[in-house]
Amino acid sequence: MKHLLAIDGLSRDEIEAILDRAESFAEVGRRDIKKVPTLRGRTVVTLFYESSTRTSSSFELAAKRLSADLVSVKAAGSSVDKGESLKDTVATLSAYDPAAIVIRHPYAGAAQMVAGWTAAAVINAGDGKHEHPSQALLDVYTLRRRLGSLDGKRIWIVGDVLHSRVARSNLIAFQRMGAEVTVCGPPTLIPRGIEELGCEVSHSLERLGEADVVYALRMQQERMSESFVPSLREYAATFQIDTRRLNPRQLLMHPGPVNRGVELSGEAIDSPQSLIAEQVAAGLVVRMAILYELLAGSERPAPVSDDEPSPTPIGQPA
Ligand code: CP
Repeated sequence: MKHLLAIDGLSRDEIEAILDRAESFAEVGRRDIKKVPTLRGRTVVTLFYESSTRTSSSFELAAKRLSADLVSVKAAGSSVDKGESLKDTVATLSAYDPAAIVIRHPYAGAAQMVAGWTAAAVINAGDGKHEHPSQALLDVYTLRRRLGSLDGKRIWIVGDVLHSRVARSNLIAFQRMGAEVTVCGPPTLIPRGIEELGCEVSHSLERLGEADVVYALRMQQERMSESFVPSLREYAATFQIDTRRLNPRQLLMHPGPVNRGVELSGEAIDSPQSLIAEQVAAGLVVRMAILYELLAGSERPAPVSDDEPSPTPIGQPA
């Protein structure tokens, strides 16, 4: 594996291998000194054009726990504010000869483009509404630890599916691991034709009791250019997951950040069925495993695209 751009490109065996590796890093996390020398002398760059708490902090900590040198760039406050393009920013950071660039960007396909501009391994930390593969891997890891296997499990993904890269990546990953997936939300927030990905669609929570796992999604108001629901209050009345709608044998997940009181009630978030804190903890070991799989013992990968050659780094002679 040269890059991690989408979950779609991973087989079940490749997913299992990353999760098995993450299990071994969980053991490192229980040691007094939570560090291994695997990536000593290698550099990891994180480059975030959108807000993040979980993904950015866990990739940063994962790189440090593997002993890599770390450069963290947030677009806000960087030379992006002065108008520097994505391509020039990548060329600039590539001049440090990083082993990996972790990129989050609002444009679907941005990570794929970056892979064509750098010799570093590229990890997609979320590109617009397209994919968030490391989130899907950490969610599968969390469920595998709880349930042993996802085979035959029924998972309902509830909420703003239309604007969610997590929904897309998780739908693919959960099914690849043997689960049956239903997506649920108002018709305005379910992409037309999503059944073609092999899932069922529901526009009400009536059959929610069938689910083994309820995976709630954030209402992504920052990606909504028009009104998709009459009001958040009315959306919550119909689709909020609360302890009345959740039965005690069901597991509850959410990628975070949560709009408390909108897609989830406070009581549901804090209930014993909630795996939200476990998901965050899993993010660290799974992202260590991703960095390990891409970088440990590997030669530097060639650019993805032949027609998008690596640019001459800024400030270097052509
Ligand atoms: N789930 C997730 O991607 O969270 P952040 O936006 O905090 O990284």
